[in-house]
Amino acid sequence: MKPPPFDQRELRDVLGTFVTGVTVVTTRAADGKAYGVTANSFSSVSLDPPLVLWSQSVSSSSHPAFRDTDHFAVNILADDQVQLSNHFAKSRDDKFVGIPHSDGLSGAPVLQGAAAHIECVKVATYPGGDHVVYLGRVERITRGGRRPLAFGQGRYMVPYAHDLGPMALGVGQAPPPSTEAVRIATDAMPAISRAVGDHTLCLAVWGNHGPTCVRFEPGAQPVSAYLRTGLVVSVTRSATGRAFAAFLPPEITRSFVDEDFRLSHSSLESESLQRAVFEGEVEQARGRGIARSANTEPSPIHGVAVNAFSAPLRDGEGRMVMALSVASQATRLAPDIDGEVPALLKRAAEDISARLG
Ligand SMILES: Cc1cc2nc3c(=O)[nH]c(=O)nc-3n(C[C@H](O)[C@H](O)[C@H](O)COP(=O)(O)O)c2cc1C
Repeated sequence: MKPPPFDQRELRDVLGTFVTGVTVVTTRAADGKAYGVTANSFSSVSLDPPLVLWSQSVSSSSHPAFRDTDHFAVNILADDQVQLSNHFAKSRDDKFVGIPHSDGLSGAPVLQGAAAHIECVKVATYPGGDHVVYLGRVERITRGGRRPLAFGQGRYMVPYAHDLGPMALGVGQAPPPSTEAVRIATDAMPAISRAVGDHTLCLAVWGNHGPTCVRFEPGAQPVSAYLRTGLVVSVTRSATGRAFAAFLPPEITRSFVDEDFRLSHSSLESESLQRAVFEGEVEQARGRGIARSANTEPSPIHGVAVNAFSAPLRDGEGRMVMALSVASQATRLAPDIDGEVPALLKRAAEDISARLG
């Protein structure tokens, strides 16, 4: 046979990008001895009839035992069972000494603390190169209610949900970014900070108290000691707040906008003036795709005048899920909305959005 156009290492690396769970497959031989091996080749095959498979290296020392028995149990490991996985991945005489377990239907050990157990009757064995594939009909399933362990790219992993799943959004709630979306944006921030001139960047979500900084990337000259993770900024005066006001559905932000004006203005005249400025900026943000806060007076939070721009990060459905903002002391960042910094930030936000599922 012609040799494949890749080496084994490359093949292993590519296959490793397919993330799996981790199982310990067990069986009990006719002489009563128990066997168990760590395996991530486990896969579901059919629901009706209920069939699963796993494959075993023919060179592993327990291969004769699995070959000769007519049953196996698949223990799907929980996320805190890395040690157990490593234990069953090494050849040793009696792997079950000191490992809490009970006997399953056919005597195959069922390990305590696993995420789930699948007990099978072996119905077929297929040759598979240096492995054999065992097909099993599922006889009994149990769920441990634990989170599963994952394995990919040669490492153990802890899986987390991409989003909140079937939990419905409440009325007036902003769509939350997925954990992955926050990670993608966070990873991109150092390079964007450098590209816009070493200014401070802030990644914000719409939290239960309004625009909330969840990550920040300090620039060469910090804005102030107050611009940091956890800061909740004004929805009407900050660029970040204005971005949310411009790009989230108004019913989500309206009460926060009203409350902001109520708290920050002593007279009706000053409030209506500020409302006009705010509404003008929000209108401009919608037109330009980027919000701004331009100031000559010191900010009440930072004690210095701060200029900032903020661009929406949108999910695959086009909904704003985060704001990416650049802020600097006003002497270092021109407030010109047509300037280079807002153009770079907007493009960077669009690039990130294109990667958010
Ligand atoms: C995460 C992980 C997944 C593994 N998956 C498999 C597998 O699917 N099939 C297999 O034959 N060996 C697999 N191994 C290696 C076996 O666990 C190992 O060869 C076996 O436990 C050796 O024990 P034995 O000498 O008792 O057979 C895996 C190892 C690890 C760490």
